[in-house]
Amino acid sequence: MTLPGAPFLARTGGELRLEGHPLADLARQFGTPLYVYSRAAMRAAAHAYQRALQGRPHLVCYAMKANSSLAVLQTFAQAGCGFDIVSGGELQRVLAATGDASRVVFSGVGKTRPEMRQALLAGVRCFNVESVGELERLNAEALALGRRAPVSLRVNPDVDAGTHPYISTGLKGNKFGIAHGEALAAYRLAAALPGLQVLGIDSHIGSQITQIEPFIDALDRLLDLVEAVEAAGIPLHHVDIGGGLGITYTDEQPPAADELVRRVLQRLDARGHGGRELLLEPGRSMVGNAGVLLTEVQYLKPGDAKNFCIVDAAMNDLMRPAMYEAWMAIEPCVQRAGPAPLWDVVGPVCESGDWLGRERALAVAPGDVLAVLSAGAYGMAMASNYNTRPRAAEVMVDGEAVYLIRARENAAALFSDERLIG
Ligand code: LLP
Repeated sequence: MTLPGAPFLARTGGELRLEGHPLADLARQFGTPLYVYSRAAMRAAAHAYQRALQGRPHLVCYAMKANSSLAVLQTFAQAGCGFDIVSGGELQRVLAATGDASRVVFSGVGKTRPEMRQALLAGVRCFNVESVGELERLNAEALALGRRAPVSLRVNPDVDAGTHPYISTGLKGNKFGIAHGEALAAYRLAAALPGLQVLGIDSHIGSQITQIEPFIDALDRLLDLVEAVEAAGIPLHHVDIGGGLGITYTDEQPPAADELVRRVLQRLDARGHGGRELLLEPGRSMVGNAGVLLTEVQYLKPGDAKNFCIVDAAMNDLMRPAMYEAWMAIEPCVQRAGPAPLWDVVGPVCESGDWLGRERALAVAPGDVLAVLSAGAYGMAMASNYNTRPRAAEVMVDGEAVYLIRARENAAALFSDERLIG
């Protein structure tokens, strides 16, 4: 079987290794639960997009909600990427990691006034605006600061991305973006507001998309609008097609990033928009298969109805299975001989929804270390402190080097901002 994450993740001599580092050793050294990432895998993912975009005006804005750890941001900044952010907190992270907001696009349906001011003062490259109300608020905030806010309108193209309903965002019934039919009027308004400078157009139709067609459909809908908006005398500089490219968790076969880009560029050329700057906002496809979550088996609890393998990572560390019933591969770090019955791999949290994998054939014993694969995206970034569980530590391997990029939290720090009363 090819492991998701190959060639950086491989099993040699029975040991699961990331960039050659035995994962069981890292678990011993740093403790569990532990996220481990391959820097080479992240660089390779960024370069796949960039190679295909070479010679074209472009910016790959890494959607940092997928994994916002500072060393990850640093890695992508060094690889020439910008960032797609969705909060003032994410902006602070970009500034802490890179000191530069000029390659940041600011997405999100609910930007607050303080977030707008913070982003205006930092000098973000573009606000991806999702409603008329937001246009008006941003205009007022920009004027109050004596600035013009660069804007793109996020258009809801009403395209079915064919993905999980919770992560599908480009349909009429979703909360995201300005309806296609209302976009031209919104552009006229934006162009008339003195605190705004119209720069581009964007969309984002969903996540874990495994086909190219929905992207092309959305692009076509965007280009129809570009033509209408420019015919109305409002020039647009860039087209941002968002993120959403899927990865392999089990047997999905998403297109490679360079294949997606090639098809998008072809379409831009065919419609006479070849010279236009192209922005992308990939998240999952940049980091998903670059990371694993390591967890130690605590107890085995065989039963009549089910066998439970209780591990020390839980839904608070990795929410995707509980939240989306997501299937993520689980592999022993060191293979053990013997029978491999079916186990539900579950955490210690007091909820039946606290599972990482169901009915997995595993030869395991207490003390073994398991790796949940493809956990680099929406793993640590969605982790919580439920059950007062300190969040996991994170390690980045980079060739020979091993870096602890985030220390394990400690429980006392979790409640240090709280106050006893009376
Ligand atoms: N741009 C915008 C405006 C977005 O909302 C998103 C993701 C992205 C880019 C990046 O999409 P990606 O390339 O990562 O698919 N927590 C879920 C995924 C939520 C995605 C939300 N938006 C999961 O674990 O599957």
